[in-house]
Amino acid sequence: MKKNLTEVQIKSLIADAIDARSFSYSPYSNYQVGAALLTKSGKVYKGCNIENAAFTPTVCAERTAVFKAVSEGETEFEAIAFIGGPKGVKQEYKDFDSVVKSGPCGVCRQVLLEFSSDLTLIGAKSLDDYFVTSLDVLVPMPFGPKNLGKL
Ligand code: THU
Repeated sequence: MKKNLTEVQIKSLIADAIDARSFSYSPYSNYQVGAALLTKSGKVYKGCNIENAAFTPTVCAERTAVFKAVSEGETEFEAIAFIGGPKGVKQEYKDFDSVVKSGPCGVCRQVLLEFSSDLTLIGAKSLDDYFVTSLDVLVPMPFGPKNLGKL
């Protein structure tokens, strides 16, 4: 059953994503992303993007947060907030072209689908400027656990 988040909960999750973004390890793209994942049990797991000199091993902020949660036994998620932008651009800026306009990358969408059908996704530019969407919208024809007879 999907619960609507309050404005206070949304802003708090965005603040956590902004905080997580400060730890972004992104010397190659200089594009810093932070994410904060709220579990159904009320815990928050933060993640940042972590790049690699070999490029392929790079992991996005959203997946870092999901893998931290799952590796600690949390597999049911309520919401995820994410915020991204070029290094040096503060989240207070309202006008930077950010990842939040299109939502998480395809690989992260697939990872999120694995664990949640009713997840609330919050793409933020700042505490006051964000959009709320769902996996139904971002992945209209999913391949997920149901296809393999799970859930
Ligand atoms: N990135 C994320 O962390 N999340 C996304 O949804 C899109 C892209 C990261 C990966 C890479 O470190 C940098 O942003 C540029 O693509």
